[in-house]
Formats: sequence, C-alpha cells, structure tokens
Amino acid sequence: MEKQRVATLTMDDGRTIELPILSGTLGPDVLDIHNIGKLGLFTYDPAFFATASCTSAITYIDGDAGLLYYRGYPIEQLAEKSDFLEVCYLLLNGELPSAAQKAEFSGFITKHTMVHDQLARFFNGFRRDAHPMAVMVGVVGALSAFYHDSLDINNSQHREISAHRLLAKVPTLAAMAYKYNVGEPFMYPKNKFGYVENFLYMMFGTPTEEYVPNPVLVRALERIFILHADHEQNASTSTVRLAGSSGANPFACVASGIAALWGPAHGGANEAALKMLEEIGDVSRVKDYVQGVKDKKYKLMGFGHRVYKNMDPRAAVMRQTCYEVLKELKLESNKLFELAMELEKTALSDPYFIERKLYPNVDFYSGIVLRAIGIPTSMFTVIFAVARTIGWVSQWNEMIADADHKIGRPRQLYRGAVKRDFVPVNKRR
Ligand code: CMC
Repeated sequence: MEKQRVATLTMDDGRTIELPILSGTLGPDVLDIHNIGKLGLFTYDPAFFATASCTSAITYIDGDAGLLYYRGYPIEQLAEKSDFLEVCYLLLNGELPSAAQKAEFSGFITKHTMVHDQLARFFNGFRRDAHPMAVMVGVVGALSAFYHDSLDINNSQHREISAHRLLAKVPTLAAMAYKYNVGEPFMYPKNKFGYVENFLYMMFGTPTEEYVPNPVLVRALERIFILHADHEQNASTSTVRLAGSSGANPFACVASGIAALWGPAHGGANEAALKMLEEIGDVSRVKDYVQGVKDKKYKLMGFGHRVYKNMDPRAAVMRQTCYEVLKELKLESNKLFELAMELEKTALSDPYFIERKLYPNVDFYSGIVLRAIGIPTSMFTVIFAVARTIGWVSQWNEMIADADHKIGRPRQLYRGAVKRDFVPVNKRR
C-alpha cells in the first residue's frame, strides 16, 4: 500500500501535527486539516479562498488552463455535441445516458413540467413590478408545500423524484414569473416541445397565436443552459449544500441557491454588462469609456474572471453563438450590438486588457444573446437559475448520498467584547 503523504505543521510553542495530503484525480493536492482541532486550533480562510469544502466528482475547473469539465467531459464538446437534458442526466447520474435512458429521462421531465394549479395563486400575492428573482425565491421554496410524497431525503428514489420535479418545474415557474410581470396569461407547458423550446413557448407564446420556435434561438438558449448548468463549489452551490446539510428538503435548498445567485457578484453580471452597454449608448463613446476603465474610474462589466485567467472556455462557445444569433436576427447593425462588438474589438486589441488578461467572459456574450432573443434584463438571472437548478440538485444529491456527510458548521475567529457583566438600564451611560 502506498504510504500516506503528510505535511507537518509546527506551532511556535513546538507542538506539531501531521496533516495528510490528499490527491484528487485532477487538480492540486489538498491538506486534510479536519483533525487540527486536536491542537485546540481552527484554520482561518474567509471566503474559502484556499479551502475545499467537500469531495465532489461532478465538475472540474482549471482556471489557469481555461478548462471546465462536467463528469470529465470538456464543456466545448458538450455544448457542441450534446443537448441540455442529456447534460442534466450526466450531471445527476455520472454517465451519459444510453439511447433508451435518454428517451425515458426526456419523457419523464417533459411530462412533469406542469405545476400544481394552486401554485398559480401564489403569484397574485406579488406586486406586478416585483423582481422575478424575488418571485422565484418564494415559489420554488413553496414547491416543498406541494410534493410531500417524496420528501424523505434519505430515500434515494425520493431524491430522484424531487430532482426530476425541480428540473421539470423550475422553467415553468420562471416563465410564469415573467408572464405575471408583463400581465399576460400563464401558458401551460406543451409536451410536443423539447425542454428549451417549451421554455421559450411558455415565455413568448400567447393563447391567441401559434408559436413557432426559431431553431437558431433554441440552440442558443440550449447552449446558455449547458454552459451554466454547473460550476463547481460557487457561492450558490455552496449555499445549497450548506442548507441541505441540515436535512432541509431539496425545494427549500434550491430556493436558498436562487437567493445566493441573485447578487450582482454572482448571477447578476450579464445584467450589469447589458446595463453598461446601454449606459455607453453609442459606438462613438466606446473610446472614452475605455479610457475611463484605464483611469480606473470603473470596471468593464462582462470582462475578467476570478478563476479563469486565460480564456473562459464558456465564453469561447458563447461568442460563436452570439455571432450566429445576431446574424439570424439580422441585428449586426443594431446600435447596441454594434457597440458591444466594438467594445469587444477594442478590449481584445488594447495592451491594457491584453497585459491583464481581461477577456470578455461568458456573461458578456450571454447578455447580448438573451437581449437579442427578447428576454428582458430582469430575467437574465432567472435564466441562470433555470440552468443551474440541475447543478444545485446534483451537488445536493451527491452530498446526501454520502453516508458520512454531516451538518456544515464553519467556525470563526472571535474578535468581539470579552466577558462583561450586565448593567441595568438606569445605570448605563
Ligand atoms: N475591467 C477593468 N479592469 C479590470 C477588470 C474589469 N472588468 N477586471 C479586472 N481588472 C483589472 C484590475 O483592476 C487589475 O488591474 P491592476 O493590475 O492595474 O490593479 C487587474 O485587472 C487584475 O485584476 P484581478 O484583481 O486579478 O481581478 P479579480 O480576480 O479581482 O476580479 C472579477 C475578477 C470577475 C471580479 C473582475 O474581473 C470583475 O469585476 N469583472 C467584471 C464583473 C464580471 O463580469 N463578473 C462576471 C464574472 S463571470 C461570472 C461567473 O463565472 O459566475
């Protein structure tokens, strides 16, 4: 048997502890510090910059090399050759489905897209101008009040049913949030459509007109869904895992993920990129705006990435899709998109951006594509949530299926008041 590699930690008072060095199948080794409590110590790593919070076999990212794999498959291959439901099956089950498994899975998801009719009443409680993410946090969490029959998280069949329900019903709820906002009737899902077509139908169809999906736009949204399906232990996924570690039901856990995704530092970046383009307003202002970026007055939204320091592999795929969509919709000469392309050109050729490795990220292109498809800016993060639902559910399922999982409970470095005695109100200064 191979000898366990260790690192030895020596304290300034001479005490030592051996920390096992663990290796994954890919990526850097990690120090197993969970026994460090024996020294009466905790580790300090705010925002988890250097901490692996779990073992996972779902997604792998190498930011320096620009790699993103789902279950070992490079994202470019999946975006090019697969479809979203197949990717969902892969993330959830670990392997690509056989033809029979694929047909069964697609059929199952397609037939469970309707939500309990009672859920429609929840929407009336919201103001019409409510942000759709506020609505989503509420209605997705409310699913747990409807599907009691499959909430035993220790039963793998129940977990599977809940995963399927979430995957099938979240797009329906997302489209309902949009319809409620614009004052149009909810559209019941149609089983003749595929997953992505159906979502577009529920968003843009009306009872008065026949809806004919545009295959180029369907493919573009399918790619957005595939590219956003999972991204390792990001903020919302970690939120889902932490909520789930207490034994909370999957609908409540996914609602917590939606809440975490809402923030502009996470799911809100493509919305911010679009707002920036609108603020620039005209191609003639690009040069001045870029100068403002170089003068550090503001950042170029949709550029740069915390993990990907070379090209974001998702951005390369989305860029191609973006061109296809603009061509299909004959929008190449549209003012906003012309401006976006000019900004891209400037940033890719300017030494300031080249030296700092500031490439357009996936959100720069996905924002443009979503806008071209006709999806309003306030729905961008909702689309992200629809796509990420499978990642959240797969990660939650992986955690619960691990018999050794425990409730997540970070520690802290306390820097508050030391012990002091209570002072009655009439004696306080
Ligand atoms: N515009 C202008 N300059 C930038 C930008 C930007 N978007 N991002 C980084 N820089 C500069 C930064 O000022 C620094 O310059 P200097 O060396 O002169 O001080 C240099 O580039 C290096 O930056 P960094 O500190 O390595 O970047 P970071 O890792 O702290 O920031 C980021 C990463 C994503 C927060 C940042 O690039 C940013 O704010 N981008 C805009 C927001 C955005 O598009 N976010 C979406 C990311 S993709 C979504 C996802 O995967 O979930």
